Amino acid sequence: MRLRFSFSASSPAKIDTAVICVYENKKFDKNLSHLDTSSQKYLQDIMARNPAFEGKQGQILKYTLPKGKGPRQVILLGVGQAKKLNDLACETLGGMLYPALVAHGATDVHVRAPQHPDMTARAEKASAHMAYGMMLRGYRFDKYKTEKSETKKPAHTLPIHFVTPHEADAKKTFKTLEAVAQGIYLARDVMNEPPNILYPESYAAIIRKELKPLGISVEILDMAKMKKLGFGAHLAVGQGSARKPCVVVMRWNGKPSAKNKPPIAFVGKGVTFDTGGISIKPAAGMEDMKMDMGGSAAVVGLMKALAGRKAKVNVVGIVGLAENMPSHNAVRPGDIVTSLSGKTIEVFNTDAEGRLVLCDALTYVQRTYKPSHIIDLATLTGAIMVALGMEYCGAFVNNDKLWQGLNAASQTTGEKLWRMPLDEAYRKAMDGVLSDLNNMGNAGRYGGACTAAGFLERFIEKDTPWAHLDIAGKMMQTKDMPSGPKGGAGFGVKLLNQFVADQFET
Ligand code: BES
Ligand code: MN
Ligand code: ZN
Repeated sequence: MRLRFSFSASSPAKIDTAVICVYENKKFDKNLSHLDTSSQKYLQDIMARNPAFEGKQGQILKYTLPKGKGPRQVILLGVGQAKKLNDLACETLGGMLYPALVAHGATDVHVRAPQHPDMTARAEKASAHMAYGMMLRGYRFDKYKTEKSETKKPAHTLPIHFVTPHEADAKKTFKTLEAVAQGIYLARDVMNEPPNILYPESYAAIIRKELKPLGISVEILDMAKMKKLGFGAHLAVGQGSARKPCVVVMRWNGKPSAKNKPPIAFVGKGVTFDTGGISIKPAAGMEDMKMDMGGSAAVVGLMKALAGRKAKVNVVGIVGLAENMPSHNAVRPGDIVTSLSGKTIEVFNTDAEGRLVLCDALTYVQRTYKPSHIIDLATLTGAIMVALGMEYCGAFVNNDKLWQGLNAASQTTGEKLWRMPLDEAYRKAMDGVLSDLNNMGNAGRYGGACTAAGFLERFIEKDTPWAHLDIAGKMMQTKDMPSGPKGGAGFGVKLLNQFVADQFET
């Protein structure tokens, strides 16, 4: 099922399902004038007979109307307290409404978004944010289902109409949000693809096909080129696989007047499958390791979002792609490899492969583009989940202003960040015995997310403002949530799109 949104001051001719917002304590927007007095009375009566429905955020009360009495059904959507309604809360409401529409077989939907004068969200934008939330929740990945599922069968497209007096504002806001949603969809798509279909070279081809038409330049460094340039750490990760590693560099130049100024760089870990290599992982749950390219997915999705909304900013995205496999060619524990930076690394554990891919991408982007800021995203460690669970993404940031910008974007978008420490002790823990560095740390499993960040920090040149986001805990959703269904989450697109908009486009 696809969603088709429209916004206008007038009501469409055909209404199957009407959605009416109810604030906490069963309050309505002042203007219920679209309902005649008998309908208003009917509605009050329904609520009086359903005391459990109080108008709390996400509560749903549905009733069917007799034939010939307007819409077939009415969905009362609890929206909570008016003063708590900001843009994000409207988005969440959209995400909560969507499953109710599916469950009740809605066809032509008609929504009046909240318009309360006390709310933080601007009334003219509330409907767009609700639509955005519905879009994020309504994402599906069913291309490999050959048997028609329930939702695929009847209505292929679900028209959803928002009645708003601010038609132009709503449409304009939605156009921007829709571009971001398209970026998130792409990030989720590539995360959900199975690893026999999505591997470094096929992934690179998808990136080119998706992004080039949007005006993004896409350059693929294949294995031969990587060898020539000296991506020794990244190549070591890929050498055990029949699928060759590669690097994809994407450039969006939305601000030609600043073309000689340094761009912002986004770097993503793209391990298309992580078996652990010779230091092999246990079997249980290993299938999830197809999403070990979640960091790269966020970068690719972000590029699509920025180009889609024509962001006035110059950005370079780089993703390091490899498959980590055990084989007769695989890198061994004890091998010493030379990274692109020239630093040598002893591979103590072949399962600590993400940092090996990232360190070369970090070096490449710094030496080639001299970025003003670098933000990397990676499903880097299990240890970040020991520290923060699945709730927060760990943020290691070497610059307070950069942290403040990211933290603000996190508050706005609801993609939660928690600042984690960078420290000389963690950097030191990554000293090699026979080489410059080792890839596992010497503190056993303790502080594993911090030592991983310490490793990466040793590849940051000249104190460039840098943030490392360990998104391992945010890689996938294990159940349906208002922000999206089960599966690849596409975490980071929303956050970084907001960060760019706030910090670089004002
Ligand atoms: N891709 C994993 C981290 C991961 C685990 C992400 C679970 C998402 C869910 C990473 O490559 C890894 O294996 N890290 C090791 C590092 C260790 C060997 C130093 C880890 O965290 O155990
Ligand atoms: Mn690993
Ligand atoms: Zn990994």
